[in-house]
Amino acid sequence: MSFPVERPRRLRRTAALRRLVAETELRPSDLVAPLFVREGIDAPQPIASLPGVAQHSLTSLRKEVRHLASLRVAGCILFGVPLRKDAEGSGASDPDGIVQRALREVRDEVGDELVVMADLCLDEYTDHGHCGVLAPDGSVDNDATLERYARAAVAQATAGAAVVAPSGMMDGQVGAIRTALDAAGHEAVAVLAYSAKYASALYGPFREAVDVTIAGGGDRRSYQQDPANAREALREVALDLAEGADMVMVKPALAYLDVLAAVASTSPVPVAAYHVSGEYAMVKAAAAQGWIDGDAVMAEHVGAIKRAGADFVLTYAAADLAASCA
Ligand code: PBG
Repeated sequence: MSFPVERPRRLRRTAALRRLVAETELRPSDLVAPLFVREGIDAPQPIASLPGVAQHSLTSLRKEVRHLASLRVAGCILFGVPLRKDAEGSGASDPDGIVQRALREVRDEVGDELVVMADLCLDEYTDHGHCGVLAPDGSVDNDATLERYARAAVAQATAGAAVVAPSGMMDGQVGAIRTALDAAGHEAVAVLAYSAKYASALYGPFREAVDVTIAGGGDRRSYQQDPANAREALREVALDLAEGADMVMVKPALAYLDVLAAVASTSPVPVAAYHVSGEYAMVKAAAAQGWIDGDAVMAEHVGAIKRAGADFVLTYAAADLAASCA
C-alpha cells in the first residue's frame, strides 16, 4: 500500500471494543411507558393498532406498573378513557374521574419506585374530541381552556401524580398550571411540558386507544405545530421555560430528530421525546409481515432518539426494551 489509510475499523473489531467506545446506551431508566386505563371494564382490552398494548382495568393497571417497576423502567404516563364525555371534558378534573382513580391505585402499588406522570389534556374527555373547550363559533377557546387545565392539574396532583404533562398546546398552559399547583400546595409536583408538539398524522393508533374522534372531521392544526416549522419549536420551548416548565418534550420523535437535537443543544432542563403510537405501529406492522426484525428496529429507533439528544423517551416499547437491555 503506497498511501496511508485511516482505520476507524480498529475500534469496531470486537464486541468489547464496540462497547468501550459506544457514545450512547439505552437503559431502562431512559424509558417511560404510556398506559391507558379505561373506565367500566374488568379485563384488559387489546388495541388492534397497537399490538402488545392494552386498555387497562384498574386491576390490570396495578399489575402492569408492578411489572414496569420490576424492570426498573423510569416511569409511566397515564391516559384515561372515560365512560362519559361532555363538552367541558369534566372527567379530566373530577376527583373520581378514571385517571384520578388510577393515579391513587398506581401510587398505592408502586409509590415512588416509578415516576408516575399524568397526561394533562381534555381530548379524551370532551364529546367533540378537541384538546380544549369550544367558543360559540366552534374554535378552541384558549383562555377558557387554561382554567380547565388548572383544575385538572390540581385534581391529578391531589390524586398522586408526581409529574403532570400538559399536551394540549394552548398558549400559557404551563404558567396557568404552575400557578394553580402552587396555590393548592403542590409545589413539589413537576411539569413536563409537551412544548414542541406537532399536528402529526402519526397519532392515529392513539386515537383508537382513547376512543377519540374529532367532531366534523376536524383537526388540531390551529393549536399543534405545523410540521413545516423547526424554529417555532425553540420559541415554544423558551415560553414554556419562562412559565416554569421543569422538563420539555418534542413530539413525535423520529420525524423530528432535527428539532429534538436543536432543543437538546440549548435546553437548560431535561428533554423528553415521545415515540408516538404511529411510530410504534409501523414497526409492529412491518414486523408482522416478516419484513423487518421488529425488536431490532425498535431498539435502533429508540436508540436514535436518545442519540439525537433525548434524556428520556416515552415509548410503547418501554417494557420490551427494558427487558432486553436489563
Ligand atoms: C393529547 C395527546 C395525544 C397524544 C398524546 N397526548 C393525541 C393528539 O394530540 O391527538 C398522542 C400520543 C401518541 O400518538 O402516541 N391528549
